[in-house]
Amino acid sequence: MRAAGNPGSPVHRPVLLREVVEFLDVAPGQIVVDGTVGAGGHSRVLLEHLGPSGKLIGLDRDPMMLARASLVLADTRCTLKQASYAQLPDILDRLGIDRVDRVLLDLGLSSDQLADQSRGFSFQNAGPLDMRFDTSQGATAADLLATLGEVELSDLIFRFGEEPASRSIARTIVDRRTSRPIRTAADLVEAVTAAHSRGGPRQSEKHPATRVFQALRIAVNHELEHLQTFLANFLPERLNADGRAVIITFHSLEDRLVKDAFRDHELWQNLTRKPVTARSAEQRMNPRCRTAKLRAAVRTKTPSPPKATGDFPIRPTNPG
Ligand SMILES: C[S@@+](CC[C@H](N)C(=O)[O-])C[C@H]1O[C@@H](n2cnc3c(N)ncnc32)[C@H](O)[C@@H]1O
Repeated sequence: MRAAGNPGSPVHRPVLLREVVEFLDVAPGQIVVDGTVGAGGHSRVLLEHLGPSGKLIGLDRDPMMLARASLVLADTRCTLKQASYAQLPDILDRLGIDRVDRVLLDLGLSSDQLADQSRGFSFQNAGPLDMRFDTSQGATAADLLATLGEVELSDLIFRFGEEPASRSIARTIVDRRTSRPIRTAADLVEAVTAAHSRGGPRQSEKHPATRVFQALRIAVNHELEHLQTFLANFLPERLNADGRAVIITFHSLEDRLVKDAFRDHELWQNLTRKPVTARSAEQRMNPRCRTAKLRAAVRTKTPSPPKATGDFPIRPTNPG
């Protein structure tokens, strides 16, 4: 196991790299935002297309990932900030930039985060159930499991994990936590497995805890709220006319939001009627990309002037 915060050598392989380069079609001198820079895998390749006067702004909520990105993006054309992509207007205002030419989001979490036992993202590790991308603020997954009522917990697991057994899982969690708090990934896996065994065997290739872990991660990080706000307001406002956006999602809740946003023909020329998925060769090399869906669109007309940015509750955590 690697210590949290230790940059180490990245284990994450950028997914759909060829397709990202093709759909973004970056040209020299442009301004590119990588809103989920992670270990910098995509950005590093995009930089090669930016020429000497281009700029790349890389954002990530996770300081550990930014430390990794800084190893491969040590370049005067790059600016890295710890922030959510949903803080884009604040970040651009601070940098004195009105609008950008290209935006990439590669959502979800990186293999580096999944492998780090101290983060609690994986049901295969035994570490504490934290699951925050930004470890400096907000409630952890263990906090939610300790404090939410049975109905809230069941709703959360159903809504964000699309888990049909959400009620029996929530009941089992609430029963168990009266005698012993659910603090670690192993505690949660045990509770979910117990709930499923009560309800009879399941026919599924996925680990029975997959959906519950996904639901908690989405809730802890307010992932859908960030994406919704970004798609509805910030992306259309801050992308130049003819600017391109490429978004990679890993589950249907996110993909639906992106698909619906790009359907707005007033704003977007959709470049991907169907989502692009990884070729079989990539799927063999990198199993993580099997669920990846890429959608791309071009901003059709000149955006209206940016609105004042004080109307969104998500503020930068590290204005740096
Ligand atoms: C799949 S990884 C990105 C990998 C990256 N494209 C690469 O090639 O190395 C997703 C990253 O997004 C970050 N992330 C998740 N939600 C975010 C948000 N709202 N704003 C900024 N970063 C976010 C995670 O911390 C993680 O590092």
